[in-house]
Amino acid sequence: MQYQSFPDVKGGSNSLDKLSALRLPPLAGKSFLDVGCNEGFFCGFALFEGASHIVGLDRSAQAIRRATARFPGVSFVQSSWDTLPEGQFDVITLLSALHYAEDQEALIHALMGKLTETGVLVLEIGVAPGTENAWVSVKRSIDERVFPTRAKLGSVLAKYAWKVMGHSVNQAGDPLQRYVVHVRHKQPFVYLLLDDPGSGKTTLARHLFAPRKIPVVSGDKLYQRIATGQLKGVPRGIQELVEREFTTARIDKVTRQLFDAGFAADLVALWTRQVKYRDFALDTYVPEEWRPVVAEEFQILGFYPVAMNLPTKPLPPARTSIVRAKEYHEFLTKHAPAPQGPTVVIHRSKPAKNTPPLRWHLDSPQDGERMDDSDGQLRVSGWLVSTAEPQGAITIRLITANKEVACRPLSRKRPDVLKAVFGATEAAPAYWQEHPCGFQLQASVEQLRQGLALYAEVGGENFELARLELNTASQQGKNREPGNTGPFSKAGVPSIQEWWNKLRGS
Ligand SMILES: C[S@@+](CC[C@H](N)C(=O)[O-])C[C@H]1O[C@@H](n2cnc3c(N)ncnc32)[C@H](O)[C@@H]1O
Repeated sequence: MQYQSFPDVKGGSNSLDKLSALRLPPLAGKSFLDVGCNEGFFCGFALFEGASHIVGLDRSAQAIRRATARFPGVSFVQSSWDTLPEGQFDVITLLSALHYAEDQEALIHALMGKLTETGVLVLEIGVAPGTENAWVSVKRSIDERVFPTRAKLGSVLAKYAWKVMGHSVNQAGDPLQRYVVHVRHKQPFVYLLLDDPGSGKTTLARHLFAPRKIPVVSGDKLYQRIATGQLKGVPRGIQELVEREFTTARIDKVTRQLFDAGFAADLVALWTRQVKYRDFALDTYVPEEWRPVVAEEFQILGFYPVAMNLPTKPLPPARTSIVRAKEYHEFLTKHAPAPQGPTVVIHRSKPAKNTPPLRWHLDSPQDGERMDDSDGQLRVSGWLVSTAEPQGAITIRLITANKEVACRPLSRKRPDVLKAVFGATEAAPAYWQEHPCGFQLQASVEQLRQGLALYAEVGGENFELARLELNTASQQGKNREPGNTGPFSKAGVPSIQEWWNKLRGS
């Protein structure tokens, strides 16, 4: 009795149901090899499906004769499977035949060797019951053959990716359940971390992959290397666009432009080139609508894409945070509390006609400085130099309406000042190189309230430098001119001449 069944002749095997159970992948345009093909039923199906290259192999001369007669378009070879045909195949089938092989394991490996990188070997085999890892001899109605247990099958196929697809048809007189198993070469995984910037994908990559020595390709770092010309062999369009548009703050922008410009496949090839053909993680932002395209491109290159999505909400774009910061500043400005307590007001006095060319500065207090937290003391410090020659001893004094509050000669070395005024300390006139130009005087806040005048005595003459006063909250922002309504009323601080005369007279 013949084995395979066709509509015109019924054989011992239900070939049509077996075909359904095989779950063959689409065969159009693929190369197909059926090992132990018998009368060519499955090769005929490949022909029917539009496979581009079909080879059937069987050691039975009669089976090959009948197969050739039925399917002249197929190349049938009468041979033992010890010699396999030339070339690689996308789909190879070995159906109800493994148990006839002397070395079953070797036959499986040999067939895997004839499979293209992304191809599939479809086994239809009996699996022996039992939990042990063993080949089990099983008595059938026609003979006694050896079959693998499930554990044995697992160990034989350990280095491949394999999956039991389900039951096949049972064979009369054969006590074993038949199974369909798909076996593929293990493809490298590419773990796709493509979420929006700020979603936490880099942290995940660091924790998950680095400790397992799985390389992580960072799209951001790659852009940087492209932008600085450190990465060779970058397609010209990508190179130009990255050089023009890349900034670390707007990686999402350049990425979107690259994808919209049609560089999806080139980018995938570029990322892949960084690690060769092995498992790796890709940590790079890809616009959502392009993520399926990226996964597909990886599949075309023989990778198994694993999409990893993070549940965290991505950060808003950088622009949003700039806008929010600006809005916050406006809010703060609008709701700024009214100034509390009095502030210092400093009026630089107009130099008199005979005032020598003095350069001076007050380090403390500053114009507008708050006085509310003061301990009652007022420290007046700064520097003064005269750019006129000859120099002589210079004294700094503070006076109120009634009395001199403080009087000190310049006493502090200030090389920073000399450098700022004369260009370099060494360029300063000899006098200033030898004499200090900094001063520090002490007064009280109370005296400041009365109004203070700052004078410099140069060459025996006093020159008014500035007037200092306290501006109370009610006066802030208005009438800052001395001698109007503030404590510097006309009678407030006397002119130096008045004061000098008073001092001399007393
Ligand atoms: C049980 S039949 C299965 C036929 C077909 N694969 C199917 O499932 O319909 C097993 C086939 O394997 C073939 N066969 C057995 N040993 C073989 C070998 N060493 N080399 C090639 N073919 C062999 C037989 O000639 C027979 O056609």
